[in-house]
Amino acid sequence: MNLLEGRAAVVTGSARGIGLAIATVLARNGASVVVSDIDAEGAAKAAADLEAQGLRALAVPCDVTDEAAVDALVDACRTTFGSVDVMVNNAGITRDRTMAKMTLEDFKTVVDVHLTGAWLGTRAAGRVMRDQERGSIVNISSISGKAGNFGQTNYSAAKAGIVGLTKAAARELAKYKVRVNAVQPGPIRTAMTAAMPPEALTRMVESIPLGRIGEPEDVANAVLFLASDLSAFITGIVLEVAGGRHM
Ligand SMILES: NC(=O)c1ccc[n+]([C@@H]2O[C@H](COP(=O)([O-])OP(=O)(O)OC[C@H]3O[C@@H](n4cnc5c(N)ncnc54)[C@H](O)[C@@H]3O)[C@@H](O)[C@H]2O)c1
Repeated sequence: MNLLEGRAAVVTGSARGIGLAIATVLARNGASVVVSDIDAEGAAKAAADLEAQGLRALAVPCDVTDEAAVDALVDACRTTFGSVDVMVNNAGITRDRTMAKMTLEDFKTVVDVHLTGAWLGTRAAGRVMRDQERGSIVNISSISGKAGNFGQTNYSAAKAGIVGLTKAAARELAKYKVRVNAVQPGPIRTAMTAAMPPEALTRMVESIPLGRIGEPEDVANAVLFLASDLSAFITGIVLEVAGGRHM
């Protein structure tokens, strides 16, 4: 199925992990994809790999906390591919520590990348999509923003903030036929979870009703649904991709 034929998509933080899986699934479904990451080399390699598979991809380095860089990223998609139909705000980091040990810098840095980054991406894409009277924005939150995770006061706060941002933006942009939704993944097999202490990860997986860790493609398929016209009457929702964890 070519659900996104003729559409152009931007995916932040897509040099690897969930972002790369999203870029790949969107491109395999017909989209021209801007692969973007703070890791310029990684983004260039990921875009080259997609092109080698016969898919359309452009690498644009971007730090999502940099206002001018995010505006330029969206502009690069519009000038190269002619439109911005899908914006996926995915870039993220963790700086896990209990609150007793967490520095203010750890807190601010994580909130800045996730929440400010998603706000800048939503605003930049929303401006273009409003004029097009078409578009779908997908913000990657986390089940940690619903339930709260030990050692993640910064991350959980940022991911819960993304839900508020998504719903408020969905209300503002609905009259322009622009939809804004969020996805809340549970534990997914990426570098982010590989960095967790193994016993903590095992405990987490044991608490997943479907009995396994998620794969990046599980998240990417949910994003494809929200990005495509299959979800044409859906805006302002939070789609959990967590195997039933914290349902
Ligand atoms: N892995 C999980 O279990 C899980 C669960 C829930 C939510 N998420 C969310 O999914 C998203 C992707 O996570 P992942 O597991 O693939 O992580 P990852 O660490 O594998 O990939 C994150 C990517 O974001 C990039 N990045 C970091 N800071 C950036 C910045 N300032 N500007 C642009 N790019 C930046 C990194 O270079 C990296 O390529 C994140 O928002 C994360 O919070 C992950």
